[in-house]
Parts: sequence; C-alpha cells; structure tokens
Amino acid sequence: MTNMPRVCDYEGSDYRTRFWENQGREYEDQVERIALRRLMPATGGTLLDIGAGFGRYADEFLGYQKVVLLDFSASLLREARERWGNDPRFIYVAANWYQMPFVDGLFNTMVQLRTIHHAENVPGLFHELGRIAAPRGTYVLEFANKLNLKAIARYGLRQQPWSPFTREPVEFVEMNFNFNPGYIRDHLKVAQFKPGRTLTASHFRMGVLKSNVPTGLLVKLDSLAQLTGNWWQLTPSVFVHNQHPATNTAAPDHLFFACPTCRTPINEVDNQLTCSGCGAVWGNEDGVYNFKQPITP
Ligand SMILES: C[S@@+](CC[C@H](N)C(=O)[O-])C[C@H]1O[C@@H](n2cnc3c(N)ncnc32)[C@H](O)[C@@H]1O
Repeated sequence: MTNMPRVCDYEGSDYRTRFWENQGREYEDQVERIALRRLMPATGGTLLDIGAGFGRYADEFLGYQKVVLLDFSASLLREARERWGNDPRFIYVAANWYQMPFVDGLFNTMVQLRTIHHAENVPGLFHELGRIAAPRGTYVLEFANKLNLKAIARYGLRQQPWSPFTREPVEFVEMNFNFNPGYIRDHLKVAQFKPGRTLTASHFRMGVLKSNVPTGLLVKLDSLAQLTGNWWQLTPSVFVHNQHPATNTAAPDHLFFACPTCRTPINEVDNQLTCSGCGAVWGNEDGVYNFKQPITP
C-alpha cells in the first residue's frame, strides 16, 4: 500500500483512566460484552482483537489457545500486558491494521469493538482482514452507526449539518467516522465476508437514564432489545457477525508472523524477526512486538 491512510494515534494516551475507569460507563461495557458473547465462538484456536487498546474485555477470550491483542499504541498494549502478562496465551502486537504482520489464513476468530470509527479506509481494512481470516473464520465487528436516533433528531432540529440518511461515512470530528449500516455490509461483502446476525447495542446510552435507572436493569433491557437488531438498527452501536468462506487456505501450523511490508513469513530469533524477503528487522520490546517501525529498514 503506497498512500497509507491516516492513523488516529493513541500512543501515550490515558484512554483507560479518562474514558473507562470510574467514568460511569459500566452500562456500555456490560452490554458490549453481552453482544460479543452472543456472536463470538466461546472457544477456538487463534483469536485476533483488532485495536485492542489496554485489553478492556480480554477476559472474554480465555477459551482460545492463542489471543493476539493488536493495537497501533504500544503504550496501551503495555498496560494490557501488565494485566495479562503472565498468561502465555496472550501475544501483544503493535501494528497498523492496514498492514497486518501475519501470514494468510491465520485467525479463526477476529473481533473489533469501538475502533473502526478511526478507519478512514474501511475497504482497505476489510481487505486485510479477509486475507488473514482462516477458512470459515468469524469476524465480529462493532461499528458506530451514523443512522442513530439521536443523529436523526439533531438533523431534524437543524443542530447537525450532516445527514444521517446518506450512505457515505461522515467524519464528524477529525479521524472519527460514523457509518451507515448498508455501507458497512456492502464493503464486508466486497472482502468476501458474509454478514449475518446483527445486534443493536447501547439503546439507553443517555445521561438521564444512566443516572436514574439502576445499571443492572438497563443492561437487562438492552440485552433483550439487542435481539431485535436483525430488523432495525437505530442505536449508536451495532454488532454484526460475519463469516469468511472456505476459500482461504489455512495457515500452516509452523507459520504465524509475516513481514508487514512485503508479506514474507518470518520467524523470531533472539527477540528479533528478520525478513528474508526485504531484509527488514522487526523487534520485540518488553514483550510487545513492534511492527510499526523496523529496527533495520
Ligand atoms: C477507542 S479505542 C478502543 C479500544 C478497545 N477496542 C476498547 O473498546 O476498549 C480505539 C483503538 O484503536 C486503535 N487504532 C486506531 N487506529 C489504528 C490502526 N490503524 N491500527 C491499529 N490500531 C488502531 C487505537 O490505538 C485505540 O487503542
């Protein structure tokens, strides 16, 4: 890829403490976990969390043999490692999702929550995921829905310039996009994924409800409402289950990483991964693989 899309860089960010810890988002966290459990196979071989951040919901992956937490931010991955570092199933990979450092056909399950709103090239991302999906691999995607009730109301009241009804993504703040469900489905299909069961989430993401209704009750109501997601999607958050066809060839057992620049499979020797194709050398610093910048280009 020559013209690399922009990346929303969270390096050094306080995302965990500023957005999640004691920030009144227990409701969102719990309903997202419910939707994820409903769509993701509970057990399996290899799982990839795309844009895993600090590993907020990594405990949902304990039924897998190998769990890759991938993020552009090495600092957030170090936070994840502080929590899960002793568990040999977890692998921490700093990389750009447009250049996945993995061999073709590797992952049985891929999940992506609260991150695609930072993708300015959705077709490029889906294309990469289609490459690394194992035959019949599952991809659970959560996306920020442009066509949500709040946006419709704000547009109707002329408090928002962009229309929620059009197909193309809207960049409402620099490097923050909302998507039309039809746009997402169309591009998943182009990348050979078959979109299936859909769940709506965060039906009650409103300050007034969250501060007056017990969280447990809101979560139960949301859990029920999620089940209507195949028929309508007007919530700010939508989950969709996708399956890749059997056409990919499964990655051989002895291969895992590939050079993100030239795609040649690479193996690790003494904390370094040397690419026999282009000569780039990639490192592993404090247990986090760094595929953002080669040690030797
Ligand atoms: C809002 S956070 C969500 C983290 C996590 N999924 C969660 O829900 O707690 C978005 C994450 O996407 C990551 N990200 C953004 N662009 C990326 C890219 N091009 N490649 C890899 N990760 C990226 C950011 O570093 C950040 O950790």
